[in-house]
Amino acid sequence: MRSVYILKSKDDIDYNKIKENNDEILLFFPIWWYTFPLVIATFITKIKGYKGRVIFFANSYTNDHQYMVNSLNDFNKVDPNITYVEGLFNKSEEEHISYLKGDNK
Ligand SMILES: Cc1cc2nc3c(=O)[nH]c(=O)nc-3n(C[C@H](O)[C@H](O)[C@H](O)COP(=O)(O)O)c2cc1C
Repeated sequence: MRSVYILKSKDDIDYNKIKENNDEILLFFPIWWYTFPLVIATFITKIKGYKGRVIFFANSYTNDHQYMVNSLNDFNKVDPNITYVEGLFNKSEEEHISYLKGDNK
């Protein structure tokens, strides 16, 4: 089963439910100022103790892979005890769908 949550800063989200019900979290965000937006750091803080993998996906105007490196480094600064896995960077909707269907494996 796959659960989809659209995170907005004012949402009332049951983080325990997210942590317990998912062995993978696919996290999508735009690059803001060379890394993830602050709300993403807040999300990571809220899932403290999560045992699964956080796979992250980002888009930005500049096609600079360093943004993914920055994001990974910053994730580890927020919580080094969570496992982060790089997903796709600056890919099309079709490529994301293909990834999610497992065509990448
Ligand atoms: C506050 C803010 C900061 C941004 N910083 C960067 C940046 O550092 N590098 C970059 O390539 N794009 C940057 N962008 C562009 C976003 O990554 C881009 O808007 C996002 O991927 C969504 O694409 P769209 O605007 O075409 O919908 C920024 C956008 C905003 C609103």
